Amino acid sequence: MKNMIIRSMTLAIGLIALSFAAARAADPDLSKLPPAAKKDGVTYEKDIKPIFEKSCLNCHGPEKPKSKYRLDSREAAIKGGSSGEAAVVVGKSEKSPMVIQAADLAEEDLRMPPVDKRDKYPALTKEQIGLIRAWIDQGAK
Ligand code: HEC
Repeated sequence: MKNMIIRSMTLAIGLIALSFAAARAADPDLSKLPPAAKKDGVTYEKDIKPIFEKSCLNCHGPEKPKSKYRLDSREAAIKGGSSGEAAVVVGKSEKSPMVIQAADLAEEDLRMPPVDKRDKYPALTKEQIGLIRAWIDQGAK
């Protein structure tokens, strides 16, 4: 009898934990992530900053950056903002929140550029995301 109670309690706790996990942000579907570009020697200055300048810096520049996140330097772009999480996991583009958010695989209100601002800031192309992935995978130099 006692064992039964313990077992059903374990089951109940397991189910509660599971439903919490499901309610949290759904894991991003990484199969939808555009592949990393096949280009060697990708650098922030040469390849990545121009993408950010066009699509991100109006909100993530030195002046009152949204979410206290700046993309105008390599170091700041890696570090992240008020989320407290690194935006770039060096060497692992598929684990980098910046990539997940820019590839529209994050929760809707975290997609970048913000979904309701796409008339002014269109989504990045698959090629641009691929280049950012290659940059991160190659060590975010
Ligand atoms: C129109 C303004 C705007 C543009 C353009 C924009 N963002 Fe954002 N960004 C925001 C806002 C607002 C937040 C905060 C979202 C939230 O937490 O709800 C944010 C948050 C972020 C974060 C989370 C930072 C942290 O650690 O808190 C990342 C990463 C990010 N943006 C990346 C980008 C990238 C990459 C681009 C360009 C492709 C971009 N954003 C373009 C407004 C913008």
